[in-house]
Amino acid sequence: MASLADAGLAGQIGGPGPANGRLPIEEDAVATAADLIIRSRGPWLTFDTGAPVPRRGPEMNELGERADLALAVRDGLIAAIGPADEIRAAWRGPMEDLGDLLVMPGFVDPHTHPVFHGTREAEFELRNGGRSYVEIAQAGGGIRNSVRRLREADEDTLAEELRARCDRFLALGTTTVEAKSGYGLSLEDEARSLRAIRRIDARHPLDLVPTFLGAHEIPDEYREDREGYLRLLVEEMIPTIAEAGLADFCDVFCEDHVFSVDESRRILLAARAAGLRLRIHADEIAPTGGAELAAELGADSADHLVAASDAGIAAMAAAGVTAVLLPGTSFFLNLPRHARGRAMIDAGCPVALATDYNPGSCHTQSMPMILTLACLHYGFTAAESLCAATVNAAASLGLGERRGRLAVGMDADLIALDAPNARFIPYQFGDNLVRTVVKAGRVVLRRPPLAIGAGA
Ligand code: NIG
Ligand code: FE
Repeated sequence: MASLADAGLAGQIGGPGPANGRLPIEEDAVATAADLIIRSRGPWLTFDTGAPVPRRGPEMNELGERADLALAVRDGLIAAIGPADEIRAAWRGPMEDLGDLLVMPGFVDPHTHPVFHGTREAEFELRNGGRSYVEIAQAGGGIRNSVRRLREADEDTLAEELRARCDRFLALGTTTVEAKSGYGLSLEDEARSLRAIRRIDARHPLDLVPTFLGAHEIPDEYREDREGYLRLLVEEMIPTIAEAGLADFCDVFCEDHVFSVDESRRILLAARAAGLRLRIHADEIAPTGGAELAAELGADSADHLVAASDAGIAAMAAAGVTAVLLPGTSFFLNLPRHARGRAMIDAGCPVALATDYNPGSCHTQSMPMILTLACLHYGFTAAESLCAATVNAAASLGLGERRGRLAVGMDADLIALDAPNARFIPYQFGDNLVRTVVKAGRVVLRRPPLAIGAGA
């Protein structure tokens, strides 16, 4: 295993002398200045295959794998990528030499609920004792428990807690995260959650894509007045949030015990009219018709889909709706079945993977763990799972032309992992193989290799 020195990671950024990889002085005249040059013997998983984005069917198995590349960064973008010798001849600038680490685009996590105050490990224990997720929710726990807690927290507290979670996302190799509100369930509490997202997005290297999820649950004060809450959502919350530019997407929890298909349609049509793009928590527990609704409305994604019908899957494939699958949730809820990921790929749906990170049904921020579960529960190949967590995940957020691939003109968001090949990534589960994270062309994190006992 490469040591820190072997991998060339020690003290190189901006440092003087040949160790920082600057070309010899006589070549400077012909070389173009880069903000950073990144080099590795690889493998490199570029996903730059020429296939249309999002990838479908067999295209999901194509990694665009290359060896011994270098990449030049300018203004946060990939200015050039190619054989290391050629890039080093044509570009000059500080060098990040990654030795033989595997390099790939940063993970894009297209479904998370990261704004919450207080965790729910007691409910985890209740579930392990035999109570179901829906039972706990109907008894006032679950999302409503998190709503009570969030309402106690001011914006500074929410932002600080979110910042710590963003650190962890980055450390696990995720460079873009879709972030939902949904534990406020009043205009004021939802807007505060979304402002916390906007604040941290502006100050943290991680990119956050904000989604309004006021339709996550019926809040306690409206339990006897569903129509009242629906009207509040449609007539006040959605227009105000959209007008303030606090969200890019609107989502709804479409499920028998939460919002029906008709209610979800009403909410999402109001969101679209207000200029928001659409996502749906669909068919997680029962085949309610959420997948069909996503197809009917041309949503960017339908998520969960554990119980999606064949007709729903076919409709999504025809409409080009991305299936965002959340294998961590069916695992963590210990459900007897999982989404039919293989059938979705075979039906021609673009498929993406996400953590669903939240304090109740899936408390992990690790995309590599999600890849392992997708391989186990859906029978995905490593390549399919990686494609779903990069190219297709970015596309589901409308970012398919900016992120999720390593190609000229794309954002320079990439990670280096201590893995000899792509298959190794889901194979070594429950671990963090990420060693270097580059976000928008800046090295934001370096983790030394494990070397216990060395150097004593
Ligand atoms: O995606 N399904 C709805 N919402 C979350 C769960 C949120 C919670 O339990 O707090 C989910 O699984
Ligand atoms: Fe969710």
